[in-house]
Amino acid sequence: MALSPPDDRPVVVLGVCGGIAAYKAVEVCRLLSDAGCYVAPILTESATQFITPLTFSALASEPAQTSLYGERHPSPHTRLGRMADLVVVAPATANLLARLVSGQSDDLLTATLSATTATVLVAPAMHTEMWEQSSVQANVAILRERGVVVIDPESGRLAGGDVGAGRLADPASIAQVVLSHLGPTGAVARDLVGVKITISAGGTREAIDPVRYLSNRSSGKQGYALAEAAIARGADVTLVTAARLQLSPIARAATTVINVDSAQQMGDAISAAAEQADVVIMAAAVADFRPVGSSATKLTKDLGIPTLLLEETTDILASLVQRRRTGQVIVGFAAETHDIASRAAAKLARKGCDLLVVNDVSQPEVGFDHETNAVTIMGKDGEVDQVPLSAKSTVAHAVLDRVARLLSQRSQERNHHV
Ligand SMILES: Cc1cc2nc3c(=O)[nH]c(=O)nc-3n(C[C@H](O)[C@H](O)[C@H](O)COP(=O)(O)O)c2cc1C
Repeated sequence: MALSPPDDRPVVVLGVCGGIAAYKAVEVCRLLSDAGCYVAPILTESATQFITPLTFSALASEPAQTSLYGERHPSPHTRLGRMADLVVVAPATANLLARLVSGQSDDLLTATLSATTATVLVAPAMHTEMWEQSSVQANVAILRERGVVVIDPESGRLAGGDVGAGRLADPASIAQVVLSHLGPTGAVARDLVGVKITISAGGTREAIDPVRYLSNRSSGKQGYALAEAAIARGADVTLVTAARLQLSPIARAATTVINVDSAQQMGDAISAAAEQADVVIMAAAVADFRPVGSSATKLTKDLGIPTLLLEETTDILASLVQRRRTGQVIVGFAAETHDIASRAAAKLARKGCDLLVVNDVSQPEVGFDHETNAVTIMGKDGEVDQVPLSAKSTVAHAVLDRVARLLSQRSQERNHHV
């Protein structure tokens, strides 16, 4: 959290290095300012060879700075480092990555990076040969391990007419990744670094014949919002999904996505992933019933009106609870339309999961296919949180707050017993 933010906007320190893509950082600066961030730019000396500080000063929230000495504040690196909710370096040169790894702090940007405890994002950009260099890749791997978020470069046209990997990620994607790492209050906690989370999303499809299926109104948006939020907080995420939505570029790069269709496929994939997971969140709307056997060929009118016989699917949540690993946190979701409180309490008791996230999908703007949700998070421990109508990302963070609390309680209990 910022120590002395200039106002209540989230503070983003934007580092710009000396590469051809430096001009694209102007767009990142503008997008973040427009999105309501307080943007404080720092240009390296090399960056000023490519673009002027004046351009950034005109678009940012305070004048761009380029030096440790002689500027407005006696100690600019500690001021910027402390007030930052997030530091993003775009473009990040090979040189900057190496200096960040070795902890150098001999200019304003590296000194600020050394002086901050905020989330750090780097968006490397360089020629393909540089990007593929083993030293550069090793530095990127070390930074990732330390919790730095790396926004991978894209493949495409590079300076001098070359084509290949190393082009700076699209400025709009960089801004989007930055914003996804800033919560409503300014910064997202990196409290799930290294935690393995399996998340299910979407409504399953139960085949009637090769072209028809039974499904439900779940869009998968809440499950995807959970995956985005968990990635932002540092988790290793496996997303088992019956929906086909787009993750943001950073989440896409960091998430193992397993596409499934039916409840059976989802159950198999979730069970396999759960063997390694610290947390399993069942946000998917898994069919309760499926047709008994599906026709191998398309049912046609000349065959007459078919009778659909249904059978129950396997209860994935119940079998997860049965095979729970020690300390594993299991979260279920319940979409209800009536007798919400009593049905939810009964489901929590029956299923034996740690948390149950309940939404009343009969309410306007709640649940299925909306951008918003309103939920009650019920704990086995009796704790109940109400999340009023909010963006699905806010609901996702509220669920992960409870998950993080449970994980930390469990690790304290473990330490207590040792
Ligand atoms: C025309 C030109 C383009 C360059 N483009 C890049 C680049 O895209 N990526 C990179 O890592 N280095 C690039 N460099 C090299 C960096 O400018 C050089 O390593 C510099 O020391 C980086 O300083 P900085 O990291 O402090 O900004 C380029 C150099 C020149 C002369």
